[in-house]
Amino acid sequence: MTHSEWWRDAVIYQIYPRSFADSDGDGYGDLPGAISKLPYLKELGVDAVWLSPFYLSPMADAGYDVADYREVDPLFGKTSDATRLVEEAHALGLKVFIDLVPNHTSDRHVWFQAAVVAEPGSPEREMYLIRDGKGEGGELPPNNWKSLFGGPGWSRLKRPDGTPEQWYLHLFDVHQPDLDWESEAVRAGFDDILRHWLDLGVDGFRVDVAHSLVKEAGLPDEAEQSEFLEGDLGPRWDQDGVHDVYRRWRKVLDEYDGDRAMVAEAWVPNPERLAMYVRPDEMHQAFNFDFLSSTWDAARYRKVIKQTMAANEAVGAPTTWVLSNHDVVRHASRLGREETNNTAGISARDPQPDNVLGLRRAKAATLLMLALPGSAYLYQGEELGLPEHTAVPDELRQDPIWEGTKHQEVGRDGCRIPLPWVADAPGLGFGPSGKTWLPQPDSYAQLAVDQQMGDPTSTWTMYQTALKLRRQYALGAGSMTWEVAPEHVLAFDNGQVRVLVNVGGPAIPLPEGKVLLASTEVAGELPTDAAVWLLKPTD
Ligand code: GLC
Repeated sequence: MTHSEWWRDAVIYQIYPRSFADSDGDGYGDLPGAISKLPYLKELGVDAVWLSPFYLSPMADAGYDVADYREVDPLFGKTSDATRLVEEAHALGLKVFIDLVPNHTSDRHVWFQAAVVAEPGSPEREMYLIRDGKGEGGELPPNNWKSLFGGPGWSRLKRPDGTPEQWYLHLFDVHQPDLDWESEAVRAGFDDILRHWLDLGVDGFRVDVAHSLVKEAGLPDEAEQSEFLEGDLGPRWDQDGVHDVYRRWRKVLDEYDGDRAMVAEAWVPNPERLAMYVRPDEMHQAFNFDFLSSTWDAARYRKVIKQTMAANEAVGAPTTWVLSNHDVVRHASRLGREETNNTAGISARDPQPDNVLGLRRAKAATLLMLALPGSAYLYQGEELGLPEHTAVPDELRQDPIWEGTKHQEVGRDGCRIPLPWVADAPGLGFGPSGKTWLPQPDSYAQLAVDQQMGDPTSTWTMYQTALKLRRQYALGAGSMTWEVAPEHVLAFDNGQVRVLVNVGGPAIPLPEGKVLLASTEVAGELPTDAAVWLLKPTD
């Protein structure tokens, strides 16, 4: 078996299928739509795609509530479309990751349906975290855990005649019951799901909430405000036992040729805990969310980059950089907010981001990211510099966070808006009918793909050029040396390329070297909130 380890320096593009491209005019993106745009991604210059869930789902959480892990939901096409997508991507030389959602299923999954009608203590119930309630009649939830989407983390089951009985845990929506990963039936079931997709040729998996599968034994109450207390996230996150699951999966992946890989979505307290997920016998990559949620501050970036690279080097894994995804405010808006590390959704009632400033910084941040050794993830639409939609009308909101938090949080719809492909087409060319499942803001027209491809000054062209140069100078596989620079400037060499990023300070004179690429116009100096890649002069 040969291991090219392509993932070590790959640039992987996240497709959020329902908002990428619609082929049938129902207003939702789908797999045939995604297939039709693979050549576009090839031209952009990415190495791989990761697709958010397209499986059979009642869509209580936009498909992160899976009712059948092997079937494609009709909203997204036919089950055979998934195979076709993998084949067509491979024909173009693109690898494909799919999303694996192992913490919970949909409440419509056959496992949960069977658990509901089974007796307490039955093998069916043991696949989920179903427990007796507290109090005399079991009328109180088993512990004090809350749902991340608002409200209690437990809901009570009822017999067909309405008699209340045991409770089930859901860290997320009430329609997303948590599996019990102590159950061998669950573990074996997921081995089969992995094999099913590996047999179909996928190159690997993005693992949803990878830090939550295993809960502390006995499910103890969570301390008030326990979050991030001295690096302990409490009883439901980042338990050591979770690593056994990934060791087991790694063995499954290693049975296959072709260098299959996994990337962890794990929000953990520090780089050392994150690096545990990418030890040699576990996963291959883990998203660096410390980098994503850094404030726009040079010292902070320097610290995050140094710490995370050191922690990963200690286990022999590359660092996996990311700036945006379907759960956080797009970085072109996030970096234009007062609080540049605030990832929570924005409504028209909130202070609005400065999107001009945001995009300027976002482009600089992107050139920083793409010059760092390791792998990088792009989120669909960031190559267009799309801002967050901050004025989605409340009545059109879809994210369960909006209802779950009783309208306290608007949720993530603003970063999930259907992509603009053609400025003057209905629905900005998202699909043939002009329908879009969420409204597009007016500002998206001038940012449409057809407005940017071929324009040397566009954000799209900056991304394409960066990806080309990154490959040419092998930046992803390189190593970095920090250079002396003013405090507000990140300066490092990666092979032949010298990278400078001015993070919010006064302009500095450009050092010697040919300008390969810059995030804005540079004439002899690097202005504030800008990045440049220089070809180092040869002595
Ligand atoms: C992950 C997904 C998010 C989803 C949640 C529950 O964080 O990225 O979109 O809502 O898990 O599955």
